[in-house]
Amino acid sequence: MMKHISDLKVNADRLRNAWEKMATIGATPAGGVHRLALSDEDKAARDIFVAWLEDIHLEVTVDDMGNIFGKRSGKNNTLPPVLSGSHLDSAPKGGRFDGALGVLGTLEVLRTLTEKNVVTERPIIIVNWTNEEGCRFHPAMAGSGVWAGRLDKKTIYNQTDSRGKRFFDELKRIGYNGAVAAKRFPLHAYFEYHIEQGPVLENSGKVIGVPRGIVGVLWKNVFLKGLANHAGTTPMQARSDALCAAAEMILNVNELPSRMGRGMVGTVGEIHNLPNAVNVIPDNVHFSVDLRCWEEDLVERAWEKLKAEFKEIAEKRKCALEIKESMNLSRSAFSKSLCDKIIDVSRKLGYPALEMVSGAGHDAAYLSDIAPTAMIFAPSIGGQSHVESENTKWEDCEAGTNVLLHCVLASAMEK
Ligand code: GLV
Ligand code: MN
Ligand code: MN
Repeated sequence: MMKHISDLKVNADRLRNAWEKMATIGATPAGGVHRLALSDEDKAARDIFVAWLEDIHLEVTVDDMGNIFGKRSGKNNTLPPVLSGSHLDSAPKGGRFDGALGVLGTLEVLRTLTEKNVVTERPIIIVNWTNEEGCRFHPAMAGSGVWAGRLDKKTIYNQTDSRGKRFFDELKRIGYNGAVAAKRFPLHAYFEYHIEQGPVLENSGKVIGVPRGIVGVLWKNVFLKGLANHAGTTPMQARSDALCAAAEMILNVNELPSRMGRGMVGTVGEIHNLPNAVNVIPDNVHFSVDLRCWEEDLVERAWEKLKAEFKEIAEKRKCALEIKESMNLSRSAFSKSLCDKIIDVSRKLGYPALEMVSGAGHDAAYLSDIAPTAMIFAPSIGGQSHVESENTKWEDCEAGTNVLLHCVLASAMEK
């Protein structure tokens, strides 16, 4: 029998069982998961998640962005609830922890409270946000962005994947276009538990990461139109090779951060080349640009430089250039008092904590605009994430979930 509420601990075996079950959905041969937003695998993950919420008698709501909420009542249900969760979709051939740990960690917190008959003052709501990754449909954090009033629902509904499938049609097809409008409601606090996805925590030897906020993120889509022609007969000087133009631009993206400094990163992660044939000069290329930095305004300034360089390259290579923005998120800062609370809880539980910054995007970015928000990070082995080899020590997952338990509990007990 638990003597005091401060002695409460999550059931690590139960957490692991849920996490292992989830990791079978979209499991890849190399040990990752391929669970793209609004795919059959995403549907299967949602179905089992909803069943788990119903098992502990949560009030389940699905909104018209497919965000899934499960509410556990408190003593005073007129008080704004504590919200906690993350996402169940993954990057292509991604890892088993990204997103799933925060959702299933919250589920374990609620299972623990239910099993021990803990009655909180405020309601607690668990959430699975739709399309956090943004890999199949740009932009990332679409479900939380619309819910928070920062993204336009119609625009998101009309986004298409690389095969031309519409977001809305896919949401409907998997049965998660809920009846309730995706719209923010008052919150007491938002917690998101997640793996760090980088090497900082592991290198520090600490167990709990406490990000002060999330870097600014800019996503652009670059479209180049050249002239297709025969690879054997077209003289080199007579070419408009869209892939060569893209190649030069991509290297500029890679080199720009070293010119800008201050911890900026730049990536081209997606590319489509047509007609993609050995003996045809490419005439249609589309690639993505991802720029991130914690420093205010640096991303915008870097993009202005890149854009000017892209124009020069396109002209030189006789290609038409079109650029579309798909995400523009300025850096977000988390609640100082919630971060301090996480550090305090970690210390009391005997886990060393480290303050840091998140280089990865999270739904917490949009939540931080509208409610006191904070995140709890668990270390990533080798700093690997968005890859099948993504991994975290099981005892670290347990530690983070216990920190989440006591943060959510303390917040839900506030009158
Ligand atoms: C989401 O995972 C992102 O950081 O892009
Ligand atoms: Mn994530
Ligand atoms: Mn991710």
